[in-house]
Amino acid sequence: MKLFDTHCHLDDERFNEDREELIGNLRKDGVERLVTAGYSLEGSKRAVELSEKYDFIYATIGISPNDIPETIEELDEELKQIEEIFINAKKVVAVGEIGLDYHWNTENKDIQKQAFIKQIELANKLNLPIQIHTRDAVMDTLEILKNYPVDKKGIFHCCPFNRELVKEGLKLGFYISFAGPTTFKNAKNAPEIIQLVPEDKMLVETDSPYLAPEPFRGKRNDPRNVQFIIKKIAEVKEKSFEDIEKIVYENANRIFNLI
Ligand code: NI
Repeated sequence: MKLFDTHCHLDDERFNEDREELIGNLRKDGVERLVTAGYSLEGSKRAVELSEKYDFIYATIGISPNDIPETIEELDEELKQIEEIFINAKKVVAVGEIGLDYHWNTENKDIQKQAFIKQIELANKLNLPIQIHTRDAVMDTLEILKNYPVDKKGIFHCCPFNRELVKEGLKLGFYISFAGPTTFKNAKNAPEIIQLVPEDKMLVETDSPYLAPEPFRGKRNDPRNVQFIIKKIAEVKEKSFEDIEKIVYENANRIFNLI
């Protein structure tokens, strides 16, 4: 196998006990490359540290809507530090995860939007794509992406099962990354959403340690499980596992500008 997990969180404390051992085994279990995603200032530092330590690990840096500070001044200061991390890092492949989350946070919509816009501007400055986290915020997400175009495009991480968002996202040139919920038995419209996405815009991710796919739902997730998402896509698209595995591997290298 030659797997590429485009979004996980290997810095998560749930990996503290066996992180090195797990990472050491990933390669032999078929994980050729992975991106560990930042979501806060500290999380971005940890993601970059992992990418410097292991040659097959890449990092994203950014502040998620659930981790933004309370004031614009603090936000600006954190973004300045995020930019400094980039300058000193070698394997940062995107700004992310960034976006809007009105499921967990409805009180601070305004600063969420500002943080999203400022980080799109940062991505354009650094010549990077973005990794988007969006939840219960379809209209605002699309409005911002239309008003603030991202030069290097990006990815909708953990594909939201929303037709409108996927269709409009594709129109804007974005990639759609499928995660564990794609395999859940109650994800009734997952096949329909998979069919909406052309093969050259599909990616797979685990978002581990969260969102383990079937048959491990509820357990700690890890990058090897990206194979179960490939399996699901292959079933829906009526292709072989190997075909989809190769397509999503090439797509990931293209969006992250890796050779
Ligand atoms: Ni994530």
